[in-house]
Amino acid sequence: MASVAERIQNLSVHDDDDKKAQKSTADVIQGTEEALLEHRTSQHSMLAPFTAGWQMKAGTPLVIERGEGVYVWDNKGNKYLDALAGLWCTALGFSEKRLVAAAEKQLSTLPFYHNFWNRTSQPTLDLASELSKLFTASEMSKVFFCNSGSEANDTQVKLVWYYNNAIGRPNKKKFIARQKSYHGSTLISASLTGLPSLQNGFDLPVSFVLHTDCPHYWRYHLPGESEEDFATRLAENLEKLILKEGPETIAAFIGEPVMGAGGVMPPPATYWAKIQPILKKYDILLIADEVVCAFGRLGTMFGCDYYDIKPDLVTVAKALSSAYVPIAAVLVSQKIFDGIAKLSDGYGAFGHGFTYSGHPVPCAVSLEALKIYKERDICAQVRKIIPPFQDGMRQLAKSPIVGEVRGVGLVLAIEFAANKETCEAYPAKWAVGTHFAGQCAARGMLVRVAGDIIMMSPPLIITPEQIDFMVKTALAAVAETEKYVAEKQSSKD
Ligand SMILES: Cc1ncc(COP(=O)(O)O)c(C=O)c1O
Repeated sequence: MASVAERIQNLSVHDDDDKKAQKSTADVIQGTEEALLEHRTSQHSMLAPFTAGWQMKAGTPLVIERGEGVYVWDNKGNKYLDALAGLWCTALGFSEKRLVAAAEKQLSTLPFYHNFWNRTSQPTLDLASELSKLFTASEMSKVFFCNSGSEANDTQVKLVWYYNNAIGRPNKKKFIARQKSYHGSTLISASLTGLPSLQNGFDLPVSFVLHTDCPHYWRYHLPGESEEDFATRLAENLEKLILKEGPETIAAFIGEPVMGAGGVMPPPATYWAKIQPILKKYDILLIADEVVCAFGRLGTMFGCDYYDIKPDLVTVAKALSSAYVPIAAVLVSQKIFDGIAKLSDGYGAFGHGFTYSGHPVPCAVSLEALKIYKERDICAQVRKIIPPFQDGMRQLAKSPIVGEVRGVGLVLAIEFAANKETCEAYPAKWAVGTHFAGQCAARGMLVRVAGDIIMMSPPLIITPEQIDFMVKTALAAVAETEKYVAEKQSSKD
C-alpha cells in the first residue's frame, strides 16, 4: 500500500508531473508489473471530463476498482470512504445487491426495448407511474425519460418551447437560471449552468439564457443586510430582470432547490417563498432541477418538499437508480402535457426522444431503488444522520483558514478563505483546497474539490460511525492544512 506522503502526492497538483511521467516510463523498461499498470493509466487514451489537459497527458488517474457500502478501493488496494457518493449519486452505496439482481433479471428477460411509436415495456410504464405518484409538491401527470441530467434539462427547454408554441406564445422563449447553478454540460444545459468553466471556449451561453443572482448569503450579502433582506433584494432583482427583458419573452425559471455542484449554497429560508409569486405574476414556468436533491438527500423525498416549491416541471437523475445504470427523467404537469399533446396531434408526432429513453434495464433498477427507499424509509434514516453530519462538520468553521461551512441535509461545503468577513480567497497557486483534499485522501476519504471549496454528499446509507470518521478525518486534514497555509504565508510564496 502506498505511504501517506505518496497518496497525498498522487492527489495533489504538482509542477513536476512531467518528471513523474518520465519516471514511470523508465520503470516500464524495467518491466515491473506495477510500473506497467502505472504506465498504462498515465498514458491512457481517455479524453477525460472535467480534467485539465496536463492531467490527461501526464497525471496518473486514480483508478477505482471496486466498491462496497460507502467505500471504494483503488487499483493499489487503498480504501476510501467516498464522501461524494461518486458524483452525488450512489445513494444506496456501491454494493446494493437488490439493484444488481433487478438489472440481471431485466437483462435476461428483455435487455432492450424502445418507447417510440406507442411501443414500450412494462418497467418503463411502471416507473413513470411510480414517479408521478411519488412527487406530491405539485401534480405531475407524465414522465419523459432521458439518460442524463443534462439531456433532461435540454429536454426541459424543448418541452417549454413546444408548450408555448402550442398555446400561442411564440415569443415567450427566454430562460432565467442563476449564477453558480449547475444544470449539466450539453449545449443548452451548460448555458443554463451559471459557471464560466462550463462555457469558456465553447461559445456559450446561448443568447436566450439569462442569469440572475446566486442566493449565497455569505458571499453576496451587503454590509449589515439580514438574510431576509438579502432574499427580498434577490427577488426584487429577479423582478427587475423580468421587466427589463419583457415578461412576454420569459418562458421559464430553472433552479436547484439547493445549489449543489456550484458550491452547495442553501438559499435563505424565505428565498423560494419570495421567488415563486414573482414567477406566477408574470406567467413564467418553474422548473425544479432535483438531480442532486431528489430521493432523500435533504431528509425529504424531494428538495421541493423541503423548500415548499411548487414547480411545473421537474428534473431527476442520479439517485433515481442510485447511479447503478444511467437514467434521468422529466416530470411534466398536466397543463404542459395538454399543450404538448395538442401540438403533436397537429404535427403527427411529438418529435423528441432518444434510443435509450426509458430503457427497460435502468427503469427496472430504478423501480427497485424506489422500493428500497420506501421500505427502508430512507428519508427518516437520513434525518437521523443530518445532525451529526452538519454539526460535526461545522466544527471546521472554527479554523482560521475556513471561511464558511454550509449545507443542508446530506450536502455540505467547506470553503477556505483568507478573510472570513470579506470572503477573500487564498492565492490560487497555493491550491489550499487541493491540499486539504489530499490530506483527506491520505486518511482514506475522497472529497470533491473546486478551487478552495470542498464538497461532500455521502451515500444516504452512511452510518453514524462512518459520519464520525468523516468528521475526524476532516478535522485532522484541516489541522494539517492550517500548517501548510502558515508555511506558505511565512515563505511569502
Ligand atoms: C443539479 C444538476 N443538474 C443536472 C446535472 C447534470 O447531470 P448529468 O451529469 O447526468 O448530465 C447535474 C450533475 O451533477 C446536477 O447536479
